[in-house]
Amino acid sequence: MNIKYKAISLVLTVMSITLFIISIQIFLNEEKDFQLFVDNNHRLIHETYDLAEIRIKEKFLMHLNTLDVAHIKELIETKQRDKLYQKLHPIYNKLQASANKSLTVYSFYLPDGTAFLRLHKPEKFGDNNYETRHLIRKSIITKKLASGYEIGKFGLLYRIEYPLIQDDKLICIIDLGIYFNEFDIYLKSIAPISSVSILSSKAQKRLHDSDFNYSFENSSFIYGDKIATKLFDVPEIRKNLREEEVIHYKNYVYSIHIVEITNTSKEIIAQRIYFSDVTKAYQHRYKTVIIHIIISLITLLFTALILNKNFEIILGQLLTSENHFKMLFENMKNAIIVFSVYDDTVIYKNINQSAQKLLGRDKADVIGTSLNESTFLPKADCLTKAIIQVYITREAIQHPCIQYQKDQISSWRENYIYTLSNNEIVVIINDVTQQKQDEQIKQRLQRSLHEKNALYKKLTLELDSKIQKQTGHMLQQSRLAQMGEMISMIAHQWRQPLASISAISGTLSIDIRLDEYKKEFFLERLDAISELSSHLSLTIDDFRSFFKEDKEMEVTDLEEMVNASLRIIGPVLETKGIRVDTSFENKDKFKTYHTEINQVLLNILKNAEDAFLEKKVKDPKIQIIAYAQGNNVCIDIKDNAGGIPEEIIEDIFDPYFSTKIKKDGTGLGLYMSKTIITEHCGGSIKVKNINDGVCFTLILPLIIKNHKEII
Ligand SMILES: Nc1ncnc2c1ncn2[C@@H]1O[C@H](COP(=O)(O)OP(=O)(O)OP(=O)(O)O)[C@@H](O)[C@H]1O
Ligand SMILES: [Mg+2]
Repeated sequence: MNIKYKAISLVLTVMSITLFIISIQIFLNEEKDFQLFVDNNHRLIHETYDLAEIRIKEKFLMHLNTLDVAHIKELIETKQRDKLYQKLHPIYNKLQASANKSLTVYSFYLPDGTAFLRLHKPEKFGDNNYETRHLIRKSIITKKLASGYEIGKFGLLYRIEYPLIQDDKLICIIDLGIYFNEFDIYLKSIAPISSVSILSSKAQKRLHDSDFNYSFENSSFIYGDKIATKLFDVPEIRKNLREEEVIHYKNYVYSIHIVEITNTSKEIIAQRIYFSDVTKAYQHRYKTVIIHIIISLITLLFTALILNKNFEIILGQLLTSENHFKMLFENMKNAIIVFSVYDDTVIYKNINQSAQKLLGRDKADVIGTSLNESTFLPKADCLTKAIIQVYITREAIQHPCIQYQKDQISSWRENYIYTLSNNEIVVIINDVTQQKQDEQIKQRLQRSLHEKNALYKKLTLELDSKIQKQTGHMLQQSRLAQMGEMISMIAHQWRQPLASISAISGTLSIDIRLDEYKKEFFLERLDAISELSSHLSLTIDDFRSFFKEDKEMEVTDLEEMVNASLRIIGPVLETKGIRVDTSFENKDKFKTYHTEINQVLLNILKNAEDAFLEKKVKDPKIQIIAYAQGNNVCIDIKDNAGGIPEEIIEDIFDPYFSTKIKKDGTGLGLYMSKTIITEHCGGSIKVKNINDGVCFTLILPLIIKNHKEII
């Protein structure tokens, strides 16, 4: 849902609900107010009624108190009615004027209850009201003012019985009868009131029996104003008067107040019904509520409109997403089939385009048919079982790969089966033929790779052994070459001692022949020969040890190894004027292949000798320095034979690389040296040109690890 619409509709809904609640609240308050208004009206009418009674009494008494009691007494005692009439008539007029002409009875009664004078019309007198008129009797007995409602011959009246007393003696009773309109004047001054009076049946009867001609044929009311009479005439209103507090008539609303009029005997003699017009107050109650309800309805209308708009948007979105789904469904590469399950029957519900291709049928031909009975899909039984399983368990399954034959071609497919929320089953068929074929090719390739690997390993092993053999052969070759060199060295070293032995033995043989040999001299010479012989023997030992098979490591140090080499080549170098300087900063003992390192040293020294000769260096010099470096010991062998050209310096360790064409060099010397140092002794050999020559550095580990045997 669009957030903007959502927010607006939410705000409007909250607003309309709030307004609605406020309206109800106001309505309830107004209802209360209205009820209060009606109650107040009630109270007001009752209070005003009481007040009116007091006022009326006051008004009349004000005039009656002005009467000349003594004179009246005299006139009564002398029965001078005419004089009394004349005397009292002005007061009657005054009373009538102040009572708005509602004074209908004004008569004089004697203490025995007989009528003495009547000032109102008809001016009859002489009847005795003592027994029938309660109030007159009460006033006669008590000699006090008595007032109340009574039914007289003229109808329902408010009566005031005023006793004229002189010297505590009752002279007469002045009887006043007043119509209700005098009360109503007070009430109407307070509120718009209409009234009607109903008499009790007893009262009605009394009036009926009188001389006056009143008609009660259809109505029980006696008198009332226009509106009240009209309202009272409506049967429904009259019927419900006692139950209802408020009545509706046409466009008006009236509150009803019933005042019960009782006589001195507390009998209800009449009811006065007041209709108070409360239309305005009643309508006011609704105005605010109606406005609020209208606003709430308008707000609700807006909400509905917005929701409707929003609904349209959602509908649009739904249609779009349905279209998207259709496109997605139809254009999927995988075949998708939707099934429904009824008992044990699986029915085609929908298929996409890929499925149509796969089944070789149109959608219309397939939908509605049963999977078990149709032959569209191979191995349908198997798929049916899987679908029913998913239908029951509701758990998706990856149905295993199925192989099938079509047009004598093997194909494979894989099914993914799951349930939709509406219990329909979706089967996604994935054609994995290509994948399977690729897998088969891959397996074949892997097999052939394994075979080739095995062959390669075999060949490598053969090659390794061949190389090893070759290396051995080269080593042998190199040794043989060295041996040639050695023989010349032995010859060189033996030449001088042999010449000395020969010279000594010559001297000794001459001495013997001359028979003049001295024993001491002879012994001395023989000792010299013996010494020379042992020197020769030592030389041979050195050479022999050089060619000895060096299979075991020996504990040695750099100085010992360098000296062993120099004992062999040193004399030759000396003869050729080559100076050899040694310096041994390190004398650590360590285990290594002593003889083989000697071979390396000889190779390097011999190469230096060759370079000196070739370059005809004037002051040939070799410097051998032994020192330690971390866990290694190192030997630098420097010469001043001019160095190796930079363009070939990286090739000198290659087999058969030699620049000594004239001398017929094998080019194996340095190759074998590198092989011995790196592979056999676990060290390394480096070369670099220095100022006037070259420097070879042998780096040997104090402890040899991972060395190879050299044949
Ligand atoms: N000290 C050196 N000064 C100048 N050139 C050198 C020196 N040592 C070696 N070389 C060069 O390195 C080449 C290879 O030496 P290596 O010992 O392997 O073979 P070679 O000496 O030529 O032959 P062989 O050792 O069989 O006599 C030499 O031919 C030479 O050119
Ligand atoms: Mg060499």
